[in-house]
Amino acid sequence: MKKDGVTIHFRQADGTVRTGIGSTGSVMELAVSIGVAGIEGQCGGCVSCGTCHVHVPDDWLTRTGKAEVFEIDLLEFEPEFQPNSRLSCQIMIEGALDGLTVDVPRR
Ligand code: FES
Repeated sequence: MKKDGVTIHFRQADGTVRTGIGSTGSVMELAVSIGVAGIEGQCGGCVSCGTCHVHVPDDWLTRTGKAEVFEIDLLEFEPEFQPNSRLSCQIMIEGALDGLTVDVPRR
């Protein structure tokens, strides 16, 4: 049976996983829509809050892309900043991301 969208898993800071299926918009918007703990998206994707911070597994960074300089400028203030950090509001849902699992840092 054909799926309706792209499946993305969110491993929350307590180790539990929430899964969403989306087709448009950003990974942050999908996370907020399914109530992922630790992703608030306070600024709505304007790159001013950092409340959409996720860690992307290294082997998926070729598909999501690494953080741009404007993202790093904000992420650097996050206590859990790592080389694989991204603002999930800047990752747009597309077919290549089907099956992605991101880690949500403790806030
Ligand atoms: Fe505010 Fe991503 S939602 S920086």
